Amino acid sequence: MKVLVIGSGGREHALCWAIAKSPKCDELYCAPGNAGIDQVAICVDIAADDYQGLVNYAIDNEVDFVIVGPEGPLVDGLVDMLEKVGIKAFGPSASAARLEGSKGFMKDLCARHNIPTADYGRFDEPDAAKEYILRHHAPIVVKADGLAAGKGVIICRNENEAYAAIDHMMAERAFGSAGDEVIIEHFMAGEEASFFVLVDGETAVPLRSAQDHKPAFDGGEGPNTGGMGAYTPAPVIDEAMTKVIMETIIKPTVKAMASEGNPYKGVLYAGLMITEEGPLLMEYNARFGDPECQALMVTLKSDILDALIACADGTLKNVKLQWHDSAALTVVMATTGYPGRYESGSEIKGLEAADAIDGVVVFHAGTRMDNGKVVADGGRVLGITATAKNVAEAKKLAYTAVDLIDWPEGFYRSDIGWRAVNRSNIKTGHSSHGRHNTHRT
Ligand code: GLY
Repeated sequence: MKVLVIGSGGREHALCWAIAKSPKCDELYCAPGNAGIDQVAICVDIAADDYQGLVNYAIDNEVDFVIVGPEGPLVDGLVDMLEKVGIKAFGPSASAARLEGSKGFMKDLCARHNIPTADYGRFDEPDAAKEYILRHHAPIVVKADGLAAGKGVIICRNENEAYAAIDHMMAERAFGSAGDEVIIEHFMAGEEASFFVLVDGETAVPLRSAQDHKPAFDGGEGPNTGGMGAYTPAPVIDEAMTKVIMETIIKPTVKAMASEGNPYKGVLYAGLMITEEGPLLMEYNARFGDPECQALMVTLKSDILDALIACADGTLKNVKLQWHDSAALTVVMATTGYPGRYESGSEIKGLEAADAIDGVVVFHAGTRMDNGKVVADGGRVLGITATAKNVAEAKKLAYTAVDLIDWPEGFYRSDIGWRAVNRSNIKTGHSSHGRHNTHRT
């Protein structure tokens, strides 16, 4: 079959890398793709937000199945547009993607269906939002309702920070119309984890758990990013915790969405806080996490294409996913300056040597070819991903590969996986410093 993947990040490179192995995939296209994706798929020069261009391309080229990677096209209804012209697509409809596209929609759904999450208020007027903060006090979390490229959540240590966050979103319109409404959420303390399920409208099949590292610098310092590294599995989500998450959060959500007329199909990514009282839902995303997807894809044994098609066809109950008995860890290399201003166009060397290490895959996130050279073309640029028998070994291997990348304009965190490695050290009596989570890993 002919498959088209939409997107240009590390997540889409990992998806293409996994889909290319499927015997069902005869031709693989990616729009717009990047220099790494170009090695496993045919890149098509159509932007991920040129929705009509993408639909026309799929029709003209008789594409059988489209996989939509990023949240923007999902929230804007690309899957609906494709289905309307009879093209099968992986991902939720626009109305179901509101689970990510509107934090207020997600919180209200949780409230109606007793899905465990923090208390909150929704406000379209700054004075009312500030009055709520005065009544409930800091620490408190201010969230823009709409999509804000991962920057729309501000954890406020005191009331003044919370007032400033409200002004930033509502008066200064830092995120445009995404901040016309804000959600004020009570602070949750615990350990953050990402949990992924495939859903076909009715059945939910768990993938694996993962942990991301959002702050830019070691030790959780610096501004929040899209994610500077990830690993799977997350030891905090064991088998018993998986059952609790499925029964109290995932299944009630899937049932609620169907019963309210918005059946959810696609991958559902739950951002969780694992507290002493149990798991709480922090947010939903309507797509694979990035860079979590990179670590998930290298540990998946089953044919990913079969599973994604089953989501679209409503046949997930027949799917049993198999995983390699290994862990994986991804270190993101980003352009200096990210998540603020940065320069594109610097040359990256050493990619082949890093990729040649047994157990390592170099996923490209923001790269392009320039006169036969690979150059940086974005904030997050590479996702160096290693598999090994446990997270500690995967970490060693990933950093061995990172050392081979010759790119003076790049930077990376050197502590990806610290939490899992600390846990295993504690088990074996080699405990080092402990850390308390504050929504920052
Ligand atoms: N890794 C965070 C995200 O994909 O939103």
